[in-house]
Formats: sequence, C-alpha cells, structure tokens
Amino acid sequence: MNPLTENPSQRIVDLSFGFIYSAALCAAAELGVADLLEQGPRSAASLAKELGADPQSLYRLLRLLASAEVFSEDDSGHFSLTPAANYLRTNAPGSLRSAVLMLTQRTFWAPAGELSQTVRTGKDPFDRIFGAPFFDYLERDAKEGARFHHGMSCLSDLENGPIARSYDFTAMQRVVDVGGGHGGFIIEVLKANPQVRGVLYDHRHVLAEARPTQAGLADRCELAEGDFFESVPAGADAYLLKRILHDWSDEVCVRILRNCRKAMPAHGRILVVDAVIPPGNTPHDGKLLDVLMMMSLPGRERTEEEFRKLFAQAGLRLTRVIHTPAALSITEAVAA
Ligand SMILES: C[S@@+](CC[C@H](N)C(=O)[O-])C[C@H]1O[C@@H](n2cnc3c(N)ncnc32)[C@H](O)[C@@H]1O
Repeated sequence: MNPLTENPSQRIVDLSFGFIYSAALCAAAELGVADLLEQGPRSAASLAKELGADPQSLYRLLRLLASAEVFSEDDSGHFSLTPAANYLRTNAPGSLRSAVLMLTQRTFWAPAGELSQTVRTGKDPFDRIFGAPFFDYLERDAKEGARFHHGMSCLSDLENGPIARSYDFTAMQRVVDVGGGHGGFIIEVLKANPQVRGVLYDHRHVLAEARPTQAGLADRCELAEGDFFESVPAGADAYLLKRILHDWSDEVCVRILRNCRKAMPAHGRILVVDAVIPPGNTPHDGKLLDVLMMMSLPGRERTEEEFRKLFAQAGLRLTRVIHTPAALSITEAVAA
C-alpha cells in the first residue's frame, strides 16, 4: 500500500484498507511472533504450534505482513525476520513492540470506530465506552494502563535524546518534567547536562516504574508524585511539558500552565514539547496525532499562534519555537 500513490481512486482504496495493516501489526505484536523467529526461519505451522494459534490463520497474517516487508517468506514457506520485523522483537535494540501495542490498544481503536459521530458532536466517546476519562481509566485498569505507559515510553525513546540535545540547558540547575511518565526525557536531559538536577513528576502508579534509578541517575533525579491540576513542584529553572498539553482542552491547559507559572521563579521557563502544526497541507505527524487526540481525548495539536494565545491566557509569553530532528518542537515561554 502506498497512501501517496498518484492514482487518486487507488489512493482512496489504499487509505481505506490501511486499518488492516494496523490490526495485523497489533496481532503479530500481541502473539510475539517476532520473538520466536530470533533463532532463524520457521514455518507458520511450527510457529502456530508454539503459540497455540490456528496454523492457517497465522500463515495468512504473516503472508500479508510479508507483502509489506514485515517478515519475509522463502520458497519452502518459512518466515524470517526482516529489518522492520526485527523492531517487533521484545528485546531488540530500539524495539517498537510496546509502541505498536499502545498505538493499537482498545483505548484508541474503539473510539476510532465512532469518528464520524465525534466530528458531528465535537465530543469524543471515551467516557461512554470506558466509563471514565482517558487517564482515570488507565489508572483504574492496571493492564491497559501498563500497556499505555510502556508504549508511551517506548515511542518517546525514539525522540527523547534528539529533543533534549536541541535545547541549551547550560544555565540551568533544576528542571521539573511535568507528567514525565517513566522518565525517559528527563534522563536524556540529565545525561546531556551534568550540572542539572531533575524532578520527575507524575501519578504514583506511573512513577512505580520510573527509570532514573536503573539509568544510574537516582542521586540527580527526585521522584515527585502529584496531580498537575493541583500544583507542580516549585522553584525550577525550567518546566518541561512533553506530550502533555496535547492531551487537554485549552481551558485545562491554561490551568496546568498557571500552576507552572505559579511554581516557577521570575527567570523560569516553560518548555512545551509537542507538535507545532505547520501551515499548509504537507504531511506532518502532528496531523495524525491531532486526529488521534480528537478520537480518545479532549486534547488537540496546536499551531504556533494557538500556543501563543494559550500562554497569554496563563500570564505567559511565547518567546520562541525550536524545531528538533523529531516531529515535536520545543515551544518556550516565560512570565509575561
Ligand atoms: C502522553 S503521556 C506523556 C509522557 C511523557 N511526558 C512522554 O513524553 O513520554 C502523559 C503523561 O501525563 C501524566 N498525567 C496525566 N494526568 C496527570 C495529572 N493530573 N498529574 C500528573 N501527571 C499526569 C500521565 O500519567 C502520563 O505519564
């Protein structure tokens, strides 16, 4: 499938079929097929036996994925890992298995089926389907919560280093990562800036799997549990909000930003790390993320102008936007 094929009718057909590839990747990741191919090629029958799966169905799944260069099949019907399939292995360097499991989890998949109704009403169906707002549900359902937070960390690992190295932290001593998840981003900031001490701020159940200790940074990174709607830790030179504001409505973002504004010293900075939607209709990952947010959360991706207005409402002033090698930019603000 090539979503940008020159043939317009084929493009519509291909885009409509796209969800089948997502479902197939999800199934391969859930079953753990790639892990079983680490030792070499195997037939679908042998894989199915070990997985307790139906051999014909597994063959058909792998044949489709092999047509997209995820796995390959030789003349004797044995499947092997390809460079892409290797990323589905649990322990591969840079493994994306958890990210696939997160992006295809029910919390996104089920609301996606109701998108036309969401567009009609301007309201996502998450609470109705799952009985609670997104992050409350993830706290309540430990299995889905773990799937989300591990996947989020995995996806973020791709971008954390390049983003951390795109900003000059040399004049800073203390940095708080607000809603920092397991800590992948603050770890990269601390690694690149030996003078900085960090605070990883998130819900208790998320901090239970925080990574700074295993990264050898326990003495430079404090774990602080709390609710950013109530307050954030005081007195830091910078407040990082990575993939946070895009989860929330403007009104709620202003509340979070005001709490950061209240907590920071006069010279403090707020660094929002989110997509900044460029003008025009060129492809941009932020546009995909934006519709994902619309489907399951009250949030959205924003343009630079929209960030400027948001900051102004929270008593802040947008100072600059720093583009990074990743799809996310760093939007910096100071007290107005
Ligand atoms: C989309 S994830 C982003 C995680 C991380 N910043 C990253 O870029 O990988 C949003 C994070 O916000 C945290 N969060 C949600 N509501 C929160 C609240 N009220 N107070 C503190 N953290 C919260 C979640 O637990 C989650 O770790």
